[in-house]
Amino acid sequence: MSTTPWKEASTLIIVARASLTQKIGHDLGQNLVVSSRVLPNDEKLKSQKKQTSTDYRILMVKRSNLSSFMASAYVFPGGHVELSDYSSKWWNLFERLGFKRENLTREIESRVSGPRPSMIQKPNILLDVDNETHIGNLLIPDIALRIAAIRETFEETGVALLISPNGGNKQENEIGNTLNNEDLVKWRQKVRENGSAFLDLCNQLNQVPNIWSLYEWWDWLTPISVGHKRFDTMFYLCCLDKQPKVVLDNTEVTNLKWCTPSDIIDEHTNEGVFLAPPQFYELSRLKNLNKFDEVERFAKQREILGIERWMPVISTYSDGAISLLPGDDAYPTKPDIIGLKPVPDYPQTLAQMRSQVVNLNRIELRGPVCTCLCNCKLTCGHLSPISNPSMAPVYSKL
Ligand SMILES: *[C@@H]1O[C@H](CO)[C@@H](O)[C@H](O)[C@H]1NC(C)=O
Ligand SMILES: *[C@@H]1O[C@H](CO)[C@@H](O)[C@H](O)[C@H]1NC(C)=O
Ligand SMILES: *[C@@H]1O[C@H](CO)[C@@H](O)[C@H](O)[C@H]1NC(C)=O
Ligand SMILES: *[C@@H]1O[C@H](CO)[C@@H](O)[C@H](O)[C@H]1NC(C)=O
Repeated sequence: MSTTPWKEASTLIIVARASLTQKIGHDLGQNLVVSSRVLPNDEKLKSQKKQTSTDYRILMVKRSNLSSFMASAYVFPGGHVELSDYSSKWWNLFERLGFKRENLTREIESRVSGPRPSMIQKPNILLDVDNETHIGNLLIPDIALRIAAIRETFEETGVALLISPNGGNKQENEIGNTLNNEDLVKWRQKVRENGSAFLDLCNQLNQVPNIWSLYEWWDWLTPISVGHKRFDTMFYLCCLDKQPKVVLDNTEVTNLKWCTPSDIIDEHTNEGVFLAPPQFYELSRLKNLNKFDEVERFAKQREILGIERWMPVISTYSDGAISLLPGDDAYPTKPDIIGLKPVPDYPQTLAQMRSQVVNLNRIELRGPVCTCLCNCKLTCGHLSPISNPSMAPVYSKL
C-alpha cells in the first residue's frame, strides 16, 4: 500500500458553447428577475448583464448523497487515478493509430515550460511499483492523468472524449462518441468494474482519448483534518463546440447542470447548493471570462506557465472558518501536509483576521457558504477569483 495519506485524482472542467435556447431562456429568466425587483441597484444590474452575456456553460454533476467523499456536492466530473491509466498497452494503441511514442511524449511535455507539481514529477501511484523497467514502459503522467480524467468523465456522464485519428491527424475539439445507448450502458459498467476496460473500449473503437483537448488548469490537495479521505487532484479544462449528450450513471452522480459560473455560485450563495471550496474558487476564477473563445484562448496560453499544487490550510473562528491559500500573508511558510492534527479554533472573527494582513488569498466560510478574497497577483499567470456580489460590502473594505 502507498504510504502517502492521499490518492491521486483527475478532474475535468467541461466548457461548452451555450445552445441558442439556453441563451434565450437564460436572458428571459434574468429579465423577469430584474424587472420584478423593486429598485434594483446598479451593482445587481451590472452583474445581471454580465451574466446574460456568458455564451458558454460548464458541466457540473451532483455526487450521490451516499458518496463517501463530498456527498451531495456539485463537482466537475472526475475521480481517482488507476494504474490502468498508466498501462504501457496505451502506447501500443497510440502507435497503432499513428502516434509514435517519442513524438507524443515530446508533444505533450513541451506544452508546459513552467513549474510541475509532484503528481507529475513523482506520482504516488507508482511508488509501490518496484520494477524500474516496468515503470519506464508506462505512460508519462501528463498523458495518464488526462486519460484518468477522460475515463472518469465517461463513467460518470457517458461522455466519451475519444477521437478517431486519421494517420496521426486529429481535431482538437472533436468528440467521437459513436456508442449507441446499449453499448454505452454495457461499456460503462465494465469500465466501472475495472478501469482497464477503457483501453479495451478504445481498442475496439479504434479511437484514442482526446488528450490534446485537455488543458492543465490547477492542482488541489485536500487539506488535513477535513475528513478521512484526501485527494491530490489535477484539474483540466476542455472546450467543446457543442454540449455533448450526458447520460448519468445514477450511482456516483445523480444529477447534472449545464450552468454559467455565476449561476451556480449564486445558487450556492443563496440556495445552499453545496460546492467544495476548490470548485468554488475555480468557478470564481472563470467568472472573469464571459466568452467561450476567451476561455479557450486563456486556458491554452496559460497552460504553458505550469501549475502549483495548492493545499488549503484551515482554521475556525468565532463566526466561520478560513481556508488560507498560498500567496496570502497568513499562509504558513512550512505547512504540515501530512499531519492529522485537528483544525485549530480561535476566538477572533473573520474580519479581524482579514484586517491583519495586506495580501489576501483565502476562502472565508460562513456555514457552508464560501467567499473568495484575493487581492494579490497569482502565480503561473492564473486568474484571481471574482468575489460574489452579495459579499461586495466585505470585499470593498479590502
Ligand atoms: C438520498 O437521496 C435519495 C433519493 O433522492 C433519498 O430517497 C434518500 O433518503 C437520501 N438519503 C440520505 C441519506 O439523505
Ligand atoms: C516523429 O518525429 C520525427 C522527428 O521530428 C518525424 O520525422 C516523424 O515523421 C514523426 N513521426 C510521426 C509518426 O509523427
Ligand atoms: C520488470 O518489467 C519488465 C517490463 O514490464 C518485465 O519484462 C520484467 O519481467 C519485470 N521484472 C520483474 C523482476 O518482474
Ligand atoms: C482488470 O483487468 C486487467 C486486464 O484484464 C487484469 O489484469 C486486472 O487484474 C483486473 N483488475 C482487477 C482489480 O480485477
